[in-house]
Amino acid sequence: MKPRGWALVTGGSAGIGLEVARGLLRKGYSLILVSRSPQKLKNAKYELSRELQKSDERQITVHTADLAEPSAADELYTWVKSRKFDVEVLVNSAGMYLCEETLVIPRERVEALLWLNIRSLTTLTLLFARDMAERGGGRIVNLSSYSVYMRYGYLSLYGASKAYVRNFSVGLSRELRGKGVIITTVAPNGVDTGLLGLPRRTARLARLTGFLMSPARCGRIIVRATMRGRRYIVPGWHNYLMIPFLGLLRPVITRILVKNTAAEHAKL
Ligand SMILES: NC(=O)c1ccc[n+]([C@@H]2O[C@H](COP(=O)([O-])OP(=O)(O)OC[C@H]3O[C@@H](n4cnc5c(N)ncnc54)[C@H](OP(=O)(O)O)[C@@H]3O)[C@@H](O)[C@H]2O)c1
Repeated sequence: MKPRGWALVTGGSAGIGLEVARGLLRKGYSLILVSRSPQKLKNAKYELSRELQKSDERQITVHTADLAEPSAADELYTWVKSRKFDVEVLVNSAGMYLCEETLVIPRERVEALLWLNIRSLTTLTLLFARDMAERGGGRIVNLSSYSVYMRYGYLSLYGASKAYVRNFSVGLSRELRGKGVIITTVAPNGVDTGLLGLPRRTARLARLTGFLMSPARCGRIIVRATMRGRRYIVPGWHNYLMIPFLGLLRPVITRILVKNTAAEHAKL
């Protein structure tokens, strides 16, 4: 396989980010995986390295950063430049989920969500998009969410942050037409990564009924859409079909999400 350049994946140590990283590795990219936990990064690197041959020119490198910290996105960009990595694909997958009574969420968690889901993603997108435009091409994948179609209570902060990601990314992608930079915005419905905090039994049932998708399938869909230059996708055709009914389903979905989140918190 012809080796390509570097793909940087935030949140590349777990969940959707790890699966997108795996898909990009299979397409020939070298990887930069970014997240907070050195141990999770080490495990992800070990797991993905098994896909490489001994003679392989591709590399997997990891970098620890807390992208909920105000200076982290700029520092990450400076680190990438200091290593002279030309990033051809940027995947902004690191994200924080909140589904609880909005008025009692501690201020630090609200700030962390805003920095991680909105500000760091914006900074990284703009910095790398400029470089890509100068070089005449590049791909960016920004993780929005199906919650943009759910203007539900308890989800207001998370849903609004993902609506920002969608509008910012789709709009910027239109602006970058002609510069060779394509932004693929992804709005997955539930993916079985643990992010939603569902108990195992509920998650299993949701997988069986198609309400939760496996991270591997979601990753494959995202990589295919990225390679094809799609600008906006909702993984899973049945999720498109469900959009008009999300208003009707609001009481049921809210009850499931809030109940399970509260149950998870009670265990902490
Ligand atoms: N799962 C879903 O149902 C779903 C649905 C729609 C959209 N999404 C979106 O898809 C993206 C990925 O979600 P996921 O389900 O894959 O989540 P996940 O399984 O919880 O993985 C999150 C990844 O982001 C990293 N991360 C978390 N906080 C970080 C921070 N402050 N700084 C740097 N890295 C951080 C985590 O590693 P560390 O813990 O080591 O930092 C991990 O690698 C998110 O943006 C999410 O909002 C998910």
